[in-house]
Amino acid sequence: MVVVASERAASREPKYYLVKRHLLDLIAALPPGTLVPTERVLTVELGTSRTTVRRALSELVGEGRLVRRHGSGTYVAEPKITWPLQMTSFTEQASASGYSTSTRLLEATRTRADEGIAARLGLRVGASTYFIERLRLVDDTPMAVETSHLSAARFPGLIPELRKKSSLYGVLAENYGVQPVEAEETIETASASPREADLLGVDTGSPILLLGRHSFDVDGQPIEYVRSWYRGDRYTFVARLSAHRQE
Ligand code: GLP
Repeated sequence: MVVVASERAASREPKYYLVKRHLLDLIAALPPGTLVPTERVLTVELGTSRTTVRRALSELVGEGRLVRRHGSGTYVAEPKITWPLQMTSFTEQASASGYSTSTRLLEATRTRADEGIAARLGLRVGASTYFIERLRLVDDTPMAVETSHLSAARFPGLIPELRKKSSLYGVLAENYGVQPVEAEETIETASASPREADLLGVDTGSPILLLGRHSFDVDGQPIEYVRSWYRGDRYTFVARLSAHRQE
């Protein structure tokens, strides 16, 4: 039964997937930064169509195995950035992993809480909130687009402070004496919209890891609700799990 099932699966394997497997074998033996053969060369070498080769290459670029440099070629990618899922800020995590960070404040406005935001921030619908959108860079490369919602009444004057300092958690600690100590974090997949693609320097439709964080202070009061669109080709997140055994 099992053999029959796997034979069926093999016969259904699309042509581009054979090309992709061939490329994966090729990449495995090459160091990051190595130029891979062009679409045209691969088309001739593998005796297939350009569309088939292009699809295999695009998937490998989306998965972060290859990187395209416009006008130059396609190269074996550097290993992804591996970050633990923990109660740190973007700035802290990057620096703990040995990277430098910078932030572009894309939007910072006061708005009114809709039902979803009001429930998450423990406010009434229509209460004044901040909507903050930032582009997060690691070693000068755009890595994530992040939107944050916070209560305006709880954090008066937050926007001008964020124009001066790039770390939200830094501002919350220094200016308001508030520190997130607990959070619920969700991870789901998404595809880069044209705008996200443009900001992150990837193709529209590229894989994105969409993280949501709902964080709380020491008294259990909600602080922020954040959604972060991380480049799927550059990130691996690690959660450490342990079994709590009953004695
Ligand atoms: C991470 C979290 C966000 C948090 C941010 C603060 O990206 N996912 O929920 O708002 O860190 O980072 P920073 O203090 O660098 O602005």
